[in-house]
Amino acid sequence: MASARDRLTLPCMARRHIIVFASLWILALAAPAADTPRGVWVKAKCALCHGIDGSGQTKAGRQVAAPDLRTPEIAKMTDKALEKSIAGGHKRMPAFQKQVTAANVRVLVQYIRSLTPSPSARRP
Ligand code: HEC
Repeated sequence: MASARDRLTLPCMARRHIIVFASLWILALAAPAADTPRGVWVKAKCALCHGIDGSGQTKAGRQVAAPDLRTPEIAKMTDKALEKSIAGGHKRMPAFQKQVTAANVRVLVQYIRSLTPSPSARRP
């Protein structure tokens, strides 16, 4: 026979489940990983060749000789020039204008910028 304690805790546990599921649902809505710059980078397959850190040190990256995107040469390029390379391709780098929206190309440029240390942070 159920004790008074069981009768009290069961509805309590049900309520806790509702709270847990509701919070997970809110979290899922609030933080869609694919919409972060890093998420766009991974989803667009940039990480496949360039790595999550932009170093180009992945299996595919080494095969196509993907450059390190954290260099001063890339830092010197304008946003427009980077957008052009990403959308239209550049030498062995494939064009992405069909897979990635113009807005996301700009997000990807910002992601590349975030990987590059700022000149003041760089050691001489
Ligand atoms: C198939 C492998 C591959 C994939 C996938 C790839 N890249 Fe590249 N990427 C390269 C290679 C190889 C180069 C060097 C091309 C060259 O010599 O200019 C490059 C160069 C670049 C450059 C420098 C271009 C320049 O003008 O110097 C940028 C910026 C870049 N990639 C961004 C991206 C972004 C953003 C994505 C995802 C949308 C991406 N790449 C996906 C292989 C890849």
